[in-house]
Amino acid sequence: MENFIAYNPVKLHFGRNVTNELGNVAASYGKNILLVYGKGSVKKHGYYDLVVKQLKSVDCRIYEFSGIKPNPLVDDVDDAVKYAIDKSIDAIVALGGGSVIDSAKIISVCIPGNHKGWDIMKRNVTPDKAIPVIAILTLAATGTEMNSNAVLQNPATMEKIGYNNKHTFPAHSFLDPQFTYSVPPNQTAYGIVDLIAHALEVFFGKGESSLSDRFIASIIRDAMHYGPLLMKEPLNYDYRANIMWDATCALNGITSWGKADGDWGVHAIGHQLSMLYDLPHGATLSIVYPAWLKLQHNRIPERIQTLGKLIFDTENAKETIENLTRFFSSLNSPVNLAEVQIGNDKKAEIIKLMNKNKVTGFCHKLSDNDHVLLVNHMM
Ligand code: NZQ
Ligand code: ZN
Repeated sequence: MENFIAYNPVKLHFGRNVTNELGNVAASYGKNILLVYGKGSVKKHGYYDLVVKQLKSVDCRIYEFSGIKPNPLVDDVDDAVKYAIDKSIDAIVALGGGSVIDSAKIISVCIPGNHKGWDIMKRNVTPDKAIPVIAILTLAATGTEMNSNAVLQNPATMEKIGYNNKHTFPAHSFLDPQFTYSVPPNQTAYGIVDLIAHALEVFFGKGESSLSDRFIASIIRDAMHYGPLLMKEPLNYDYRANIMWDATCALNGITSWGKADGDWGVHAIGHQLSMLYDLPHGATLSIVYPAWLKLQHNRIPERIQTLGKLIFDTENAKETIENLTRFFSSLNSPVNLAEVQIGNDKKAEIIKLMNKNKVTGFCHKLSDNDHVLLVNHMM
């Protein structure tokens, strides 16, 4: 096992009606609240009204920044920072999925020094403080609610990249599984894929840790148990709650402690597909993971066999890859590019972007030739 520091300062409020405490929590940071949300699902399904009622009950002044898109853009972050500085914001309430919460994290570290979002993302500047972020999660997937990661796109440079810093943890996160009742089937499936992918990225990382492997196996097995039940019964509280907690635990640090590093190569490849075709994050992962495993089949057979033993009760690496692919398919998440109407004519541009952005994993390095093999496997 590797040496490690376990640090996670997020105060997580989980369960039915936990947002009843939101007003008091927000008011403890000040009166001027920037309320950040996406394209409108939160208004349609009533979460916005609940949040506004809470904030008004403690006399907060609400300043809204809406329209954050899935696969969020750094330009929106910059616009929000300008607005927030003008309104002397005390805290940010981020109401939405990963895209909204990730944007809020970068907004929060840009405000004190009036930084540009991309300067933070590219680590040209190092922020030394942040406005507190209070996250209200509406989609179980990314784990952003209990980690310091934020992922943004910059169409000007054709990059989708991640960032983290000790100041980019939310101060509080509110997770009421009832807020995810309205997540449509495709996004529910992508969330399940995403959480499994997070567990796998750590599993295929550097360093052995017995407990990490067992945590990972438990998270994946739980998601494979509740995922299909949830797809059939989207309004079942227990199914939503279990998947939500699986997603949080898949990327809140607990699987990584004791390991040297995760790999994250599959995520890096998926980000190129989101950048090029605006594909939802989880959909990119169900396409890339089978291809990546096929590439690694002869390179790390034992590790794939160990996964098979832990998850699928098989020691056969090929069967393990097939079982995982079949599981993603059973959720109706795409497992190749043809399923998202991306044909052979796009091969060259995908490979070109992968080469340009030097896409690789932290542990399993990918060459330019690997990019070609991977894209072939994805077709
Ligand atoms: O825009 P709105 O109207 O809010 O609709 C969203 C969006 O269309 C909708 N939605 C969210 N909650 C809903 C809902 N619809 C109905 N009912 C609800 N309760 O779902 C769509 C997708 O939302 P988005 O926030 O984009 O999804 P997700 O949570 O999967 O976040 C994806 C983003 O997070 C990044 C991804 O790369 C991607 O940009 N990631 C962040 C990570 C992190 N911070 O740790 C790690 C991940 O690996 C990932 O990279
Ligand atoms: Zn992910």
